[in-house]
Amino acid sequence: MIKSLRVRTLTVKTMFSAIAEWRSLRVVFALVVVPFACGSLHAQAGPALLGAAWYPEQWPESRWERDLRLMEEAHLHVVRVGEFAWSRMEPAEGRYDLDWLERAVRLAEKHHIAVVLGTPTDAPPAWLTAAHPETLRMDATGRLAEHGGRRQFNYANPRYRMYCAEIAEHLAQRFGHDPNVIGWQIGNEYTDESFDPETKRQFQDWLKRRFGTLDALNRDWTTAYWSQTYDRWDEIPLPSAGGNPGLLLEHRHFVSDTWRDFQHMQVKAIRMFAEKRQFITTNIGGLGWSDNFDHYEINNELDLASWDDYVGQGHLNVARNGAMHDFARGWKRANFWVMETQPGSVNWAPVNNALDRGETRAMAWQAIGHGADAVLYWQWRSALNGQEQYHGAIVGPDGGPLPLYAEIDETGSEFERAAPALDGTTPVAQVALLHSYDSRWAIDFQPHSRNYDQLEVLLGYYNPLREQRLTVDIVSTDAPLDRYKLVLAPSLNVISAELAARLLAYIQQGGQLVLGPRSGMKDEHNALNVQRQPGPLVEPLGGRVEQFYALDAPVPVSGASGTGTAAVWAEQLSVRAETGSADTEEIPLRYGKANGWLDGQPAMISHQVGKGRITYLGAVLDPALMHSTVQGMIRDAHVEPEFGKLPADVEVCRRVGKGHSVYVLINHGASAEDIALPQPMRNVLGDGRNLSEVALEPQGVAVLETVTP
Ligand code: GAL
Repeated sequence: MIKSLRVRTLTVKTMFSAIAEWRSLRVVFALVVVPFACGSLHAQAGPALLGAAWYPEQWPESRWERDLRLMEEAHLHVVRVGEFAWSRMEPAEGRYDLDWLERAVRLAEKHHIAVVLGTPTDAPPAWLTAAHPETLRMDATGRLAEHGGRRQFNYANPRYRMYCAEIAEHLAQRFGHDPNVIGWQIGNEYTDESFDPETKRQFQDWLKRRFGTLDALNRDWTTAYWSQTYDRWDEIPLPSAGGNPGLLLEHRHFVSDTWRDFQHMQVKAIRMFAEKRQFITTNIGGLGWSDNFDHYEINNELDLASWDDYVGQGHLNVARNGAMHDFARGWKRANFWVMETQPGSVNWAPVNNALDRGETRAMAWQAIGHGADAVLYWQWRSALNGQEQYHGAIVGPDGGPLPLYAEIDETGSEFERAAPALDGTTPVAQVALLHSYDSRWAIDFQPHSRNYDQLEVLLGYYNPLREQRLTVDIVSTDAPLDRYKLVLAPSLNVISAELAARLLAYIQQGGQLVLGPRSGMKDEHNALNVQRQPGPLVEPLGGRVEQFYALDAPVPVSGASGTGTAAVWAEQLSVRAETGSADTEEIPLRYGKANGWLDGQPAMISHQVGKGRITYLGAVLDPALMHSTVQGMIRDAHVEPEFGKLPADVEVCRRVGKGHSVYVLINHGASAEDIALPQPMRNVLGDGRNLSEVALEPQGVAVLETVTP
C-alpha cells in the first residue's frame, strides 16, 4: 500500500514537471500523457494528431534534429518510422543494429513527437532473398520477383514469415516499453499474393480443412460442369482469373486468411513484449476500396484500423473520399487513422497535379470529421534517390520548408486547438450501408456489364444520405444492426441462409431493410440461389426477381418518388398475388416502355414484415430519382435530421461525445458562404464564443461544439 502511494506521488510530480516543459497544454491533449506504475511518462495517442512518415535511415544523423524541430514548429506530433528500413535494422543475418533507431525515437521525444514503428517486412534486405530465393513472390504467369523494388516477398512462405517474426520480435524487445512509441504498423499495404507451387499446396491443404471431403467440394462448386470434378486435392488449381466461381471465391478467402496469418505471426511477436497501450495496426492501401483480401478479417485482431488516403490525379472527390473514411471506420466500427495522405501531390498518377491551396487542409479536416483521430502525410522529405523522388513532400531537397509547409502548420495548430473538444467523440449514425467482400468478389468475377461499378452503385445510395446531412456507417454484414433505423444493401449478391436469418430478425424487430440490385443471387459457395433473387429472402419479401437485364440504354421509371430513368442494370420484379399487386405502397416504382420484358413491370417492391419492412429496388436509378426515392426511405424510417440546411458544397460531419457534439463544416465550393446555424454553437477554432452564424471562405473550415442533453 505504502509502496503504491509513493509511486503515485512520484508519478504525479514527474508528470507536472514534464508538462511544464512542454510548449503548450494543448500538446498534452494531442498526445495524452499516461503515468505508469514505474513512475515514468508514456505518450499515448489522443484525437486530432497531425504527423508524417519520416525516414531517418535515409539521412545523416546530424540532420535529424532540424527535421524534428521543423515538424514541431508545424505542430506535427507523430512520425511513422522504420517500415522499409530492414537493411539498416539488420545489415547482415542475425546482426541487429537498432541503436540509430533508438536515438531517432529519443530525439523525436525531445520535440514532443510520438513514434509509430513500422515492421520492415514489405522490403526484405538483399542478403535475405539472395540466401533464400524461395522467399520471393511468383506472379500468376510464373515470373519470380527480384530485389530492387519492394513487395518482392512471398506472403505464404514459412521461411520468410519466420524472418519477419524475428525482426518484429527484436523491435518489440527493444521498443515495447519505450515511452515515446505509441503504436506499431505491421508491414505496409499488403498487396500481392504469390502463385508458386508451395502456395498452391497450401491452398489445397486449406481447401481440405474447409470442405473435409472432395464430395462436398465437388457438390458446392458444381464441378460436374465442364468435367471439373476433382478426385484428388492436388488436382485443384491456384486460380488467378477465369476459374469456377466457387473456386475463385475460396481463393479470395484463402488469400485473406494467408495475409491474416502473415500478420498474426508479427502481432504475436510484438504482443509478447510490447505494453498494451501501444496499438497495433496495418495501413490499408489501394485507396481504401481495394479488395485483394477481406479488410474486416485483417483488421479483426488489430487494435486500430488505418488507411492511406490519396487523391492522385485531380482534386478531392468529396463524396467518394468521405465514403471511404466511413468505410474505413466500419472495418473496426471505431475511429481510425489516416496513416498516409498526400502533401499536395503524388508521383504515380497519369498527371500528378497538386491540390489547390487550402485543399490539403480541407482534406485533413474531412478525415477528422468522418472519424479519423490522426492524419499523417507521406512523406516529410523525398529521398535524394530512389523510386519516389518526385512525390509531394513537406520540405524540399535542401531540407527547407516547401510552400505547403505553412498550410500544414496552420492545420496542425488547429488540430491542437480542437483536440480537447474532439476527445472521446465519434460519428454516430442512424443509417447503415451494408458491404460484403464476398458479394464484391462474386459480382466482379462475372460483372455481366462492364458498366456495373459497385462503388458507383454504393455511392448512388450514399450520396443522397449525405445530401440530407446524415452520418452514414458502411459496415460488414456481420455488424450488429439493431442500432440503425434504416439499413441499405446495394449489390448484396451473396446471401446465405444464415445472413438471411439475421436480416430477417432485424426487420421483424422494426428495422427497415432495402436491398439493391443484384442482391441475393448467390449462396456462400457463389452458387446460384435456387429461389431466384433475393434467395432466402424471397419468402419474407413476398416477391422476387423474375429476370435481370444489363442495359445498353436507359429505361424510364416512375412511381411514388417521381419520374426518371434506370441505367446499367434493371431487374423485373414480381409480387406474390396475395400481397396485393396494384398497391403503390407495395410497388412504389415501375418501369415504363423499355425492352418489352420490363414494360410496366415493378422496379421496386416493398413489404411489411413483423414491426419492420423489407424493400427491394431492382434498378440503378438516375441521381435525381434516387435522391427522392432515398428521401422517402429516410422519412419512412423516421430518421432524424442532424443539422439544418446548408449550401450544396458545404459538408458537415458530426462527432458525438458524452454530453456534447462537434460539427466540422467544410466549404468545398468555389464561393464564400454565410451559414446560419440551427442553434448557437461554440467556435472551437476561433475565440471559443458561441456563434449563431458562420462565414466560410472557399476551402474554409469551422469546428463547432454544442452541448447535448
Ligand atoms: C503508398 C505507400 C507509400 C508510398 C506512397 C506514395 O501506397 O504505402 O510507401 O509509396 O504510396 O504515394
